[in-house]
Amino acid sequence: MTHTKTLYIETVGCQMNVLDSEMVVASLKRQGYELATSIEQADTILFNTCSVREHAEEKVYNNLAHLKKMKLAHPEKTLGVMGCMAQKDQQAVFDRAPYVDLVVGPGQLHRIPDLLTKIRDGEGPQMAVSLGRRDGSQADIRRSHETFDPLRDPAMRPTPFQAYLRIQIGCDKFCTYCIVPMTRGPEQGRDPQLIVAEAQELARQGCKEITFIGQTVNSYKYAEGEKTTRLADLLEMVHEIEGIERLKFVTNYPKDMTRELLQTVHDLPKCSTYLHVPAQSGSDEVLKRMKRGYTTSDYFDMMDRINEILPDASISSDFIVGFCGETEEDFQKTVQLVERCRFKNSFIFKYSERPGTRGAELFEDDIPEEVKSRRNVELLAVQDAISLEDNMQFLGKRMTVLVEGPSKVSIKKGESGPIRQMMGRTNCDRIVVWEGNERQTGNMLPVLIHDTGAFTLFGSVETAEIKPDVIEMPSFIRS
Ligand code: 5AD
Ligand code: SF4
Repeated sequence: MTHTKTLYIETVGCQMNVLDSEMVVASLKRQGYELATSIEQADTILFNTCSVREHAEEKVYNNLAHLKKMKLAHPEKTLGVMGCMAQKDQQAVFDRAPYVDLVVGPGQLHRIPDLLTKIRDGEGPQMAVSLGRRDGSQADIRRSHETFDPLRDPAMRPTPFQAYLRIQIGCDKFCTYCIVPMTRGPEQGRDPQLIVAEAQELARQGCKEITFIGQTVNSYKYAEGEKTTRLADLLEMVHEIEGIERLKFVTNYPKDMTRELLQTVHDLPKCSTYLHVPAQSGSDEVLKRMKRGYTTSDYFDMMDRINEILPDASISSDFIVGFCGETEEDFQKTVQLVERCRFKNSFIFKYSERPGTRGAELFEDDIPEEVKSRRNVELLAVQDAISLEDNMQFLGKRMTVLVEGPSKVSIKKGESGPIRQMMGRTNCDRIVVWEGNERQTGNMLPVLIHDTGAFTLFGSVETAEIKPDVIEMPSFIRS
């Protein structure tokens, strides 16, 4: 007897993983799979994993351990690990969890449908991973990190009117703490024609906001003959597409934040004025050990460029605290950098040593856990105070938001019915909530801001003002 195949997929990690899961679901739906809402209901269970920090990996291994009993009781179910941890650990995933059927790296996801068929046909566990960074010719390594982006499925996105669009895969920056160049392979810009075609398809599907994604999205380059296409060119091309109302791009590399790019963002009204440009540390010594390729003075110059060309821009950053050899003085320099740059928000992480990185090879992970935690809390407090102060500037202002749907609070409270707390984002990526109507979802609306916290602006949607002088009256009524 044939029955519908059901898939449960759990995703952790960055935007790349969110997009990869969307693609895998789209390709499996084409094979007749339906999405299950729980592990119990599914006959295929996939974990899309992240390797950036150890903690994220341990959680996946714990989840797998919990599923051992279920898998042994139901050997017909398929259990798979995909994403960065699959690429990094490869055979070690089977060694730690021998009941796993499938291990697939992020560069081999297009093979998942076939591999699942093989498993069902009794061919045993399957693994598909890309070549390591020293395991072949440059061309072979590049080819082994493939994407299969054109398959889009609006139903898998958090909202049908917002989408990620991958413009670049991999990374060649080799920051010493980071595993990404190993798991996602060499930096490769995608063909601009494919990118534009995908954006057009997204617009046809009703998508209004596109976020270009790449590990260092502003380093994007695609050379063909004499012509080199850069991020600014892509923004111009996609800006022309009717139906697209907002364009964003993440994550940026400080050194490649050129005047030309900033000027393009300034000149194109659909471009969001939100820039995520991780600084990672405020100490030149630490930046050098991280091999970030810039000094704090370069970073401040970049901030000056942004403030000059895009005075209304919102900038956010990432920081790693407790990197190898980070002294109290180094850390205080990071605090000072945050105070000087006044980011909209910062994502702060405790250093997690990653086997396979240069950092793990060269330096000792010598900062005690409690010191890392204290620095994390301290930096977060400094940033939160700035975020709150920064949000004050919007009090009494009218801001245009793209309505994403009911707010987290509304969902948590289990509010139902059309009237509930709604949530949207401004052009500079501020989160706004208001008492609204679910029918507002997907629209651009003006919201008047009357209160704020560090992370959220509170407002109200004004009913359309009726100004007698703009009402078009039939001519026979006019005197
Ligand atoms: N430990 C802690 N944080 C890390 N990041 C990357 N690698 C590590 C690591 N080994 C952080 C960086 C990066 C963000 C996505 O994750 O701040 O910008
Ligand atoms: Fe990792 Fe650095 Fe590349 Fe970002 S730029 S993905 S931190 S190696």
